[in-house]
Amino acid sequence: MKNILITGGAGFIGSTIGLKLANQGYNVTVLDCLSEQIHGKNPNESELYNRIKGKVTFIRGTVISREDWQKALDGQDVVIHLAAETGTGQSMYEIYKYCNTNIGGTAILLDILANEKHSIKKVIVAESRAIYGEGTYNCPHCGTVYPVVREEKDMLSGDFNVKCPKCGANAELVKTSEDCLIHPTSVYGITKQVQGELVHTVCKSLNIPSVSFRYQNVYGPGQSLKNPYTGILSIFSNSLRQNHDINIFEDGTESRDFVYIDDVADATILAIENDKCAYKAFNVGTGKAVDVMTVAKYLKEFYKSESKIKITGNFRLGDIRHNYADISLAQNILGYVPKYSFEEGLKKFCTWVLTQPLEEDNYKKSLEEMKNKGLYK
Ligand SMILES: NC(=O)c1ccc[n+]([C@@H]2O[C@H](COP(=O)([O-])OP(=O)(O)OC[C@H]3O[C@@H](n4cnc5c(N)ncnc54)[C@H](O)[C@@H]3O)[C@@H](O)[C@H]2O)c1
Ligand SMILES: [Zn+2]
Repeated sequence: MKNILITGGAGFIGSTIGLKLANQGYNVTVLDCLSEQIHGKNPNESELYNRIKGKVTFIRGTVISREDWQKALDGQDVVIHLAAETGTGQSMYEIYKYCNTNIGGTAILLDILANEKHSIKKVIVAESRAIYGEGTYNCPHCGTVYPVVREEKDMLSGDFNVKCPKCGANAELVKTSEDCLIHPTSVYGITKQVQGELVHTVCKSLNIPSVSFRYQNVYGPGQSLKNPYTGILSIFSNSLRQNHDINIFEDGTESRDFVYIDDVADATILAIENDKCAYKAFNVGTGKAVDVMTVAKYLKEFYKSESKIKITGNFRLGDIRHNYADISLAQNILGYVPKYSFEEGLKKFCTWVLTQPLEEDNYKKSLEEMKNKGLYK
């Protein structure tokens, strides 16, 4: 396993993996279209792209082109397929684009593996925690339950609690493991579920070991500060640095499992040479939930910002309430142990943000867009 193709390898996660692999002596090829939403109008000024330039073989191309895939797959041992459209909210109205890139791109890869001569010995693909929807909860009456998307009428009245789908009682968050019910609440989540299922189903039939990763909320240096559709740490940082007030959705106690980029890259790399991980899906997180208000306060303090942090009670349809991962499978099979606590990781992230130019604060615009589509209340 010497030659590794990373699609989306100019992106946040892909570039970090690519650099680590290149440093370890692998031959890394990147297939990436340098999408404007991530890299800006002039990709030569994209920090992410500049990180990998000259250190990997770069092919500018798209995963929705069979020819680009063929060119990129030539002579590779492993493909790490990360190229994707990644905005959860945006996916609810850019439906064709999300399905075409995420599902369609994966379908072309598998079609080539099934029908053409190739040298691929392992396929690694990014799913997402988004496939779990609300994840796993405990109901005081019914035990383990998998709540569905919350009702608009409850949220409009300020009740953001997750309810038991059987009896309607307030349910309590527990960790989500890989065998929990898969029921995404966004088009993005659906595309990630299908990507994983396509890869495992087809690769198994072809006897090519496949591995998928359900990354939790990944953050760290290199995360796009331009994209107003993903990444609350970036979005908050951008507003706080410009002393613009930040509006926190719901009641601020919603939480996520924030995992530092190096841990995510290391987990993914562990799958390359490991032969016990075939046809498995792994959660990659820290196993801890941190609430959004805590995040906002920490960031405000770090940037010494004068912004006000406002809890608005607004919400986005399809957003989940809470989440944290059970990471024991990745621990047991891959030997994955997250090295960064949230405090350590956040410090590294903020220190990096301060070296970056201030980006236009497009966040309000992205909310307007969602509001016009009836998705933001
Ligand atoms: N960042 C997270 O928190 C997170 C969480 C769960 C899953 N994931 C998944 O991990 C993968 C990488 O995410 P990321 O955060 O690095 O995203 P990113 O947006 O930083 O990187 C994605 C890269 O893919 C490229 N790309 C987009 N469409 C393409 C196409 N049609 N052809 C070729 N390249 C294309 C972009 O130019 C970009 O460089 C994605 O599949 C995403 O769904 C990310
Ligand atoms: Zn119940």
